[in-house]
Amino acid sequence: MDLSTTYCGLKLKHPLVVGASPVAADLETAQRAQDAGAAAIIMHSLFEEQLIGERHASIYHMELYANAHLEAHSYFPPVSDYRLGKHEYLDHIRKLKKNLSIPVIASLNGTSPGGWTDWAGLMEQAGADALELNVYYIATDPQETCWQLEDRIVETAASVRKVIKIPMAVKLSPFFGALPHLVARLDDAGADSMVLFNRFYQPDIDIAELETRPTLRLSDSSELLLRLRWLSILFGQTHATLACSGGVHTHEDAIKAVMAGASCVQMVSAILRNGIRHLAEVVREFENWLIQKEYRSLKQMLGSMSQSHCPDPQAFERANYMRTLHSWRVQGGVVV
Ligand SMILES: Cc1cc2nc3c(=O)[nH]c(=O)nc-3n(C[C@H](O)[C@H](O)[C@H](O)COP(=O)(O)O)c2cc1C
Repeated sequence: MDLSTTYCGLKLKHPLVVGASPVAADLETAQRAQDAGAAAIIMHSLFEEQLIGERHASIYHMELYANAHLEAHSYFPPVSDYRLGKHEYLDHIRKLKKNLSIPVIASLNGTSPGGWTDWAGLMEQAGADALELNVYYIATDPQETCWQLEDRIVETAASVRKVIKIPMAVKLSPFFGALPHLVARLDDAGADSMVLFNRFYQPDIDIAELETRPTLRLSDSSELLLRLRWLSILFGQTHATLACSGGVHTHEDAIKAVMAGASCVQMVSAILRNGIRHLAEVVREFENWLIQKEYRSLKQMLGSMSQSHCPDPQAFERANYMRTLHSWRVQGGVVV
């Protein structure tokens, strides 16, 4: 069975990879992920805030007043929680490259064009096989338009592209008014791949302490559906290859992601919850399933359930929406 796939300019033995997370932050854990069969590993992010002096200072400022006021608290993790400083991050890329045979993808996380993007070049020099640029951002300013926001994301991607030759993926959030258009612009700006999607970490409110509480809840398979929808819409509409990130816990989830159009399937929560051996099981069951169903290769399955063959995807989406809303019935006073 040929499970090989090309993602972000990299030839992978199969699509299942470890997504950006603490898994790669420790060499021994990363080696165990490789032994469990991971086709590649993505490092946790190095943040713009870690690379820019003034913003970094403001994080310290927030820490100082961390417990003083609801608004100032818990927006940023304590600086000590950034696992590796910027120089250690580069050293860690070298260490991973020296000890692993699978591709190592570095991750840079930021939202504005500027000097910090030069660090992408240093990541390349340190040996990263590709770079994932995460543009996590929540618009909170009523004066900021969606055009300004999207222009900034595209400019950020273009400025990273300028300093590196290795392939670049952009990790996006799902909440854009016209996602396919943004993806087309990023494609033009030189992105090789799109990662769908970031998860939003939504702080809760502690009503007794009057504090916001960061909540890091691991995902479950229900989060996959949003990814499946957008993978299937974008597949065939962009030159960029697509990765699924979010809600992949089983081999069935991974199969759905590939059928929708993902060349790469990233897993984090499932590994953190069940241990790295879980990855080995998913890889094994994934392959078994394709053999049982008599696929000859992964390529045959890729995008097979996407909307690329649908003559009018917009009408299809609308029809599905209506069908879903008309599918309920009331039986004995309850909706079934
Ligand atoms: C503990 C933890 C740390 C993470 N760190 C990063 C990070 O540094 N950079 C990043 O782009 N995503 C990070 N993520 C997000 C994951 O890469 C992934 O997009 C998200 O967890 C959804 O995938 P999942 O459903 O398989 O967990 C992190 C997730 C978790 C749970």
